[in-house]
Amino acid sequence: MNIKSEKTQSLNKKTAALCVFVFENSKGPLGLPKLPAKLESAVNQSVKETQGKFESISIIHTHQLIAAEKIVIVGLGKKPKTTTDSIRMVAGKIAQKIRELKLVDFTIIVPEDLQFNINQTVSAIVEGAEMSMYSFDKYKKEKNEGKVPNLVLVSSHKIDDVVLRAKKTAESVNYTRDIANLPPNECSPAQLAGLAKLLASRNNLKCTILSKGELRQKGFGGISAVGQGSKNEPKLIILEYRRGKRQDKPVVVVGKAVTFDTGGISIKPSEKMDEMKFDKCGGCTVLGIMKAASDLRLPVNLVGIIPSVENMPSGESYRPGDIVRLFGGKTAEILNTDAEGRVILADALAYGVKIYRPSEIIDFATLTGACIVALGANVAGLVSNNKRITEKLKSASARTSEQIWQLPIDDDFMDMIKSDVADIKNIGVGRAAGTITAAAFLANAVGNTPWAHFDIAGTAWIQTGSKPKSYNPKGATGFGVRLILDYLSN
Ligand code: BES
Ligand code: MN
Ligand code: ZN
Repeated sequence: MNIKSEKTQSLNKKTAALCVFVFENSKGPLGLPKLPAKLESAVNQSVKETQGKFESISIIHTHQLIAAEKIVIVGLGKKPKTTTDSIRMVAGKIAQKIRELKLVDFTIIVPEDLQFNINQTVSAIVEGAEMSMYSFDKYKKEKNEGKVPNLVLVSSHKIDDVVLRAKKTAESVNYTRDIANLPPNECSPAQLAGLAKLLASRNNLKCTILSKGELRQKGFGGISAVGQGSKNEPKLIILEYRRGKRQDKPVVVVGKAVTFDTGGISIKPSEKMDEMKFDKCGGCTVLGIMKAASDLRLPVNLVGIIPSVENMPSGESYRPGDIVRLFGGKTAEILNTDAEGRVILADALAYGVKIYRPSEIIDFATLTGACIVALGANVAGLVSNNKRITEKLKSASARTSEQIWQLPIDDDFMDMIKSDVADIKNIGVGRAAGTITAAAFLANAVGNTPWAHFDIAGTAWIQTGSKPKSYNPKGATGFGVRLILDYLSN
């Protein structure tokens, strides 16, 4: 989407649609200058009808009384309930309406005097518009929607930097979605590695891919074991971006990329198994973070690590009962081959800690169904060993509306994954605290390095039956990209 900002007087703006926000039961639209009398009464009439209800839209023809062809009035709902996320959702609704009407462009008057600052409002509008235009139609002859309209934001403030930043971030979210939505027959670990290489060459990142032989030889017993059941061989993808101070330790981001999770020998039931194509979403989020950070030339050192496998049942598969040696030397007893994410992540995390000595290591994984049971489909689970980064991540979450909720971890949970025959085992005790016992397995790999783990099982894609937001259409959401970009920028 083409997005820019202007300081133009909004009534002189030549545009197909001049869009303004209005609160529920308020006097009138926010930031709309005094209109010619005829138009003003039409606007008042229409505000009366919709009452500014959340996501309501009414359209008024201007009959050339001002430069715009139409005025579009959009409801924000009640003022005290308005958040940056309502702005984001409503902006997405507007963009979708404009596209549906086949208009080539639209203009939004940026509202001021809200409960949050203008930069947050602008970011929310830009993100909402850009992300709501997303649809995955790569495999359809008849494309889903019409042409994407151009957007102009009118404000008396200088907002072009914020607009550009939000636009690039939202584009990276859409890039994440494009890869995450790929079907499993078109996105093997090798194909995912190919996409990472393409990103690296475009954005000037260092890219290293470790293949089956090297993984075995270098001691990645977890990735090797989970990957051995598929003829699509496992890969470890490493991307490096350096624009921070030379001596600054990097931030390492790790993402689970199981390109398809059948469960392996502990096979899953067939119902909704197709959704396990989304089990690569954590890895895709890491790709999106690497893209956004480099597009925006953030002054940070950043490393992305993506362990990628296909979890399949076959004569070569790893089995319940196997004991594997993880990177770094700890042994793990496999009691369920469907708890594969933690096994490949433990290798990747231990590698990240050992090779890069990071200031902090943050991972994203569609790790446990238990996380959906605990937190539903709109909130990601957070488990961490460090107060400082937890607080920073919570602030980033509040600003970006990518919701997270912290779960505890202590020695009682670590005890739940002790094995009789190996150092640890890959499942806990019964159904108790499934998300935390999975995280406890990962905690074994990071030692004292500040670490945060996000379980995005519920949030990585729109679950069947749950309600999509305008800016999160069906399929993969790209959850985590905006959160970490905000975190790295603050
Ligand atoms: N990828 C799944 C978790 C998952 C399930 C994410 C459904 C999103 C929706 C993971 O590999 C898995 O299978 N976890 C098991 C762990 C169990 C065997 C301890 C689970 O959650 O059932
Ligand atoms: Mn699994
Ligand atoms: Zn999985």
